[in-house]
Amino acid sequence: MASQASATEIAARTEEDPLLSVQNLKIRIQMDNGEMKAVDGVDFEIKRGKTLGLVGESGCGKSLTSRAIIGINPKECETTGRIMYHSAEEKALQQLDLLSLGPRSKQIRSIRGRKIAMIFQEPMTAFSPMYTIGNQIMEAIRIHRTKDKREAKRIALEMLGKVGISDQEKRFDQYPHEFSGGMRQRAMISMALSCNPELLIADEPTTALDVTIQAQVLELMKQLQQEFGMAILLVTHDLGIIAEMCDEVAVMYLGRIVEQSTVDGIFYNPKHPYTKGLLRSMPKLGADKQKRLDSIEGTVPMPINMPPMCGFYDRCKERIEGVCNTQAPPATRISGNHTVRCFLYKDGGEGN
Ligand SMILES: Nc1ncnc2c1ncn2[C@@H]1O[C@H](COP(=O)(O)OP(=O)(O)O)[C@@H](O)[C@H]1O
Ligand code: SF4
Ligand SMILES: [Mg+2]
Repeated sequence: MASQASATEIAARTEEDPLLSVQNLKIRIQMDNGEMKAVDGVDFEIKRGKTLGLVGESGCGKSLTSRAIIGINPKECETTGRIMYHSAEEKALQQLDLLSLGPRSKQIRSIRGRKIAMIFQEPMTAFSPMYTIGNQIMEAIRIHRTKDKREAKRIALEMLGKVGISDQEKRFDQYPHEFSGGMRQRAMISMALSCNPELLIADEPTTALDVTIQAQVLELMKQLQQEFGMAILLVTHDLGIIAEMCDEVAVMYLGRIVEQSTVDGIFYNPKHPYTKGLLRSMPKLGADKQKRLDSIEGTVPMPINMPPMCGFYDRCKERIEGVCNTQAPPATRISGNHTVRCFLYKDGGEGN
């Protein structure tokens, strides 16, 4: 029981417990033509101070999954499962099921922004055009960290400096439209990190930026992660970014995690035909730009009224008729921390 645990026990438990553990997450949306299983039984863990990449083509359910963590999906999303959060602060042994708190509860509002912060592809959604950038960052700090206005301003200016925005005093008083896209992205990161979160959820944080700025922003996120020790859930369709940034990777397809491993496991020992396809379609450094990439044929279908089967069946060159289209493949453990959902594999390695 929590009250009987010693301080040493608490320290040991929090070290090894994951910061966040998503269990059997399902998100259903009722559509005119049936029920959409947008997220269909997703499990993953995020370790303290580490980066987990969630990768997959557009429409696989990455954003719904990541937004479910802080309860910001639209009302029509019926969400079930467990999202266990193990904060290292205060009540160290307390595990909270974020999903059970309710999206408008006081508890989730105190966690959102303060302990778990989120940044998006489009920073304009994070800032109101009506107020200065400085005021908005300061407001976030005043809600979560300190009521003292001068202290909040000092932190805000310091954070703007940390994300590489020079001339902070002047920038503080500017409106979002006076910032370039890359600058706005930096300002959003500074707002997200100003409350020193334990987990940063970054949903396609650099997709809208040109390559040079993209590299700078990613580098900045890495630096800030080292400085603040936060964990990151990095959502992207870009395997290049995953290779650059992540410790572990979850490959998502049609609402399910189809493969999960360390970054080396995914890049050097990919198993799932979808993961292999994504890797083949990844531009290689120094490759001939004119050469067409080997992209995966077909598109992600809508998960509406899907019979029980492998979601990748229609696009898979290795499919086994009568097997892959009659049931959904279970998660199979290839080795320690490498799992795959595909009938080609059995526990402990290759199948058939
Ligand atoms: N509010 C919504 N209403 C209906 N369908 C939605 C809604 N939000 C997302 N979807 C659908 O759910 C699926 C997963 O969406 P999303 O999580 O945004 O994918 P990703 O981030 O991987 O591109 C897509 O097919 C998308 O069209
Ligand atoms: S289960 Fe079958 S269809 Fe699905 S990815 Fe594996 S081989 Fe392809
Ligand atoms: Mg998305």
